[in-house]
Amino acid sequence: MTTEKASLLGDERMSLYNTKKKSSFGKYLKYLTHVVVIIGTVYLCLSNMTGSEPVGVDTNKKKNVIFMVTDGMGPASLSLARSFKQFRDQLPMDDVLQLDQHLVGSSRTRSNSSLITDSAAGATAFSCGLKSYNGAIGVSSDSEPCGTILEALKLQGYMTGLVVTTRITDATPAAFSSHVDQRFQEDMIAEQQLGEYPLGRMVDLIIGGGRCHFLPKSQKGGCRSDDRNLVEEAQHEKGWNYVGNREQFDDLKQGHNVQFPLLGLLADTDIPYDIDRDPKVYPSLAEQVKVALTALSKATKDSDKGFFLLIEGSRIDHAGHHNDPAAQVREVLAYDEAFKDVLKFIDETETDTIAISTSDHETGGLVTSRQNSPHYPDYVWYPEVLLNSTHSGEYLSSKIVNFTSSTDDVTTLDKFIAKEILEKDLGIMDYTQEEIETIKHFSNDQSNLLYVLNNLVSVRSQTGWTTHGHSAVDVNIYAYTNSKQISSQLISNKPYHGLLGNHENIEIGAFMESITGVDLDKITKLIKKTKHSITTKFNSIQVDEMHHGAY
Ligand SMILES: *[C@@H]1O[C@H](CO)[C@@H](O)[C@H](O)[C@H]1NC(C)=O
Ligand SMILES: *[C@@H]1O[C@H](CO)[C@@H](O)[C@H](O)[C@H]1NC(C)=O
Ligand SMILES: *[C@@H]1O[C@H](CO)[C@@H](O)[C@H](O)[C@H]1NC(C)=O
Ligand SMILES: [Zn+2]
Repeated sequence: MTTEKASLLGDERMSLYNTKKKSSFGKYLKYLTHVVVIIGTVYLCLSNMTGSEPVGVDTNKKKNVIFMVTDGMGPASLSLARSFKQFRDQLPMDDVLQLDQHLVGSSRTRSNSSLITDSAAGATAFSCGLKSYNGAIGVSSDSEPCGTILEALKLQGYMTGLVVTTRITDATPAAFSSHVDQRFQEDMIAEQQLGEYPLGRMVDLIIGGGRCHFLPKSQKGGCRSDDRNLVEEAQHEKGWNYVGNREQFDDLKQGHNVQFPLLGLLADTDIPYDIDRDPKVYPSLAEQVKVALTALSKATKDSDKGFFLLIEGSRIDHAGHHNDPAAQVREVLAYDEAFKDVLKFIDETETDTIAISTSDHETGGLVTSRQNSPHYPDYVWYPEVLLNSTHSGEYLSSKIVNFTSSTDDVTTLDKFIAKEILEKDLGIMDYTQEEIETIKHFSNDQSNLLYVLNNLVSVRSQTGWTTHGHSAVDVNIYAYTNSKQISSQLISNKPYHGLLGNHENIEIGAFMESITGVDLDKITKLIKKTKHSITTKFNSIQVDEMHHGAY
């Protein structure tokens, strides 16, 4: 068979641009400013006539929808990672990331409650297609459960999956598969993800971290406030197949040996940053994605419905919060590898498939420049500093705290910091005694220590950060499809139609709804009785801590 490959950079999109350029009104714009409005109107009419109208997608035709989220990745993260990779691999300057080749637009990210969104409202904008408040997981701005694209597609007969590198109960995956008023209700999120709510089980495949909220506190790695063991319940009462370590993950044979439903929880909380990851213990995001794509496509092979898969590069955001450029470039590149595998899958499958990749927001206020002194700066930043850095600040701060607790000898600690951490792990040779003193000062305080270490790397590489939190900068939208029909709709720049150009984040949710023909309001009616309010008594310290840890 011949699958029509309709890359978004292909003919249709080019001809759209060319036709626009040919508009002879263009050259008068400069001079005739007083008729700008009239010209604008004509221009819009023209562009409507030249192919930006959707041709319509057959919503009944079998499809796969792969929705990919780079949590906390703004445009500067791509510049940083691209230059880092070119430097590391000695590539020419026209060597770009996989993502770079499939840029279609940008997304405005504000939430219902703030110009700066969190990941919960950000993901709910995609999953329910509506603006909610920061903290909202699959609930509307008045805290009512809202039907999600994952639920709607599952009820239509699609298979569904979630693949992440953080806790599966964290905001992004949660907003597709559960409904709670506040993101820190992770115990309840875990229950719903396994099927304890009016719709029953909606997720067929889970691969990520986050055993914590599936296990009672009394158990190693557990943090549930009740004494339920959801991992055991899932296996023995609910029919899930559980995978809890690398060995069992490898037994899935890259997706050829998966029994559904699959619950893969590979870490108590986060899977380590890619820069720290021991491949003998944890798979990469690309390996997780491979398992999911193979297993889901095999399972839907004889079905007239495809699958919906959410993939999140979750910890790009964490590196942003930590202001850790060395960890972040590796997270972005690991995601780009996974994206490459998704593209390959799309090229090879005979089923109409679309991958959309975007971010919920930017994190860190990252810029690829930094003025370190009052003098006017040179126009440089130094990727080699990120290459010299072989671990994240998260890992190294833990290493220092561990070492500190094992010795009382100040000279030993001095030497450890200088030789082991700075010279060996970070490749920093020009450190000062003052910097060693600062590290020693925080050598028992991991959360501040990681900022100190990451700052050494950021200053020397001239990487700039403006916040430890999120920012309101627009983020990119990428897409790729093997379907001519979907492609035609994608390149529409009309609000709530396509994704070309600049869009509100909820339009991305609306786009997935329109190509699959689902009606989320119908789902919303079915889940009215979902338990979603805060029932456990959280004391205010706990809530504070959760907000602090909540990204
Ligand atoms: C936020 O939601 C509330 C309650 O639904 C609504 O009244 C308000 O207009 C919304 N605000 C924004 C900025 O979306
Ligand atoms: C520090 O010690 C803890 C507890 O033993 C361990 O889990 C962690 O991996 C250690 N950190 C490093 C970087 O070795
Ligand atoms: C990187 O590390 C090497 C030693 O491994 C050192 O010679 C070099 O100066 C370091 N580069 C930077 C930019 O710190
Ligand atoms: Zn965040």
